Amino acid sequence: MTEQKATNIVWHQGSVTRADREKINGHKACTVWLTGLSGSGKSTIAVDLEKRLWERGVKTYILDGDNIRHGLNKNLGFSPEDRTENIRRIGEVAKLFTDAGVVALTAFISPYRADRDQVRKIMGDGDFVEVHVDCPVEVCEQRDVKGLYKKARAGEIKEFTGISAPYEAPTKPELTINTAGQTVAESSQQILAYLEQKGIVPRA
Ligand code: ADX
Repeated sequence: MTEQKATNIVWHQGSVTRADREKINGHKACTVWLTGLSGSGKSTIAVDLEKRLWERGVKTYILDGDNIRHGLNKNLGFSPEDRTENIRRIGEVAKLFTDAGVVALTAFISPYRADRDQVRKIMGDGDFVEVHVDCPVEVCEQRDVKGLYKKARAGEIKEFTGISAPYEAPTKPELTINTAGQTVAESSQQILAYLEQKGIVPRA
């Protein structure tokens, strides 16, 4: 846990509440937290799911590992400590989006269970929808969309998740999606059905 450095700070409450924002939006907010190996399909699913939600008038925003590491988290690498800090910051950002009444979709490997559990802890009950984007490492390596597995095998990338760094699968995710055995559309549909069932977004 990162310690708070500042003292003499007081929380300031606004007059527009999250409930107000949700009311005007016509749907509830949450964070759909996609976790899985590189190449498992997290970003692809996030983009497809966002389009479907958007078509229903749901306000969404995607936070994606490769993108966030160009800006907010550009000072972080892939050591265990940096990954923990990466996820801590994203967790806080996702919490802000959720508070803003948005359905935040996050696509980070987030390989450590403790880091994901910590995000769950700072979010409200039911706000953290953990989705394990499950795909065997062999399949991810075969896809090798970014050519990174090849580099990792050649020793050109150190601490590569699934090859030379660990991935700790969730033990009790809200959803598990098997991307080796179903289409992107089916994966999105599975998440949509969950969001409908929980009353977060209206049924189509
Ligand atoms: S996380 O582990 O801290 O959650 P994050 O999702 O932000 O990772 O970034 C993962 C992306 O960075 C991968 O999809 C890949 O494109 C790239 N990457 C570069 N180096 C590594 C590495 N050593 N391990 C995993 N991904 C890496």
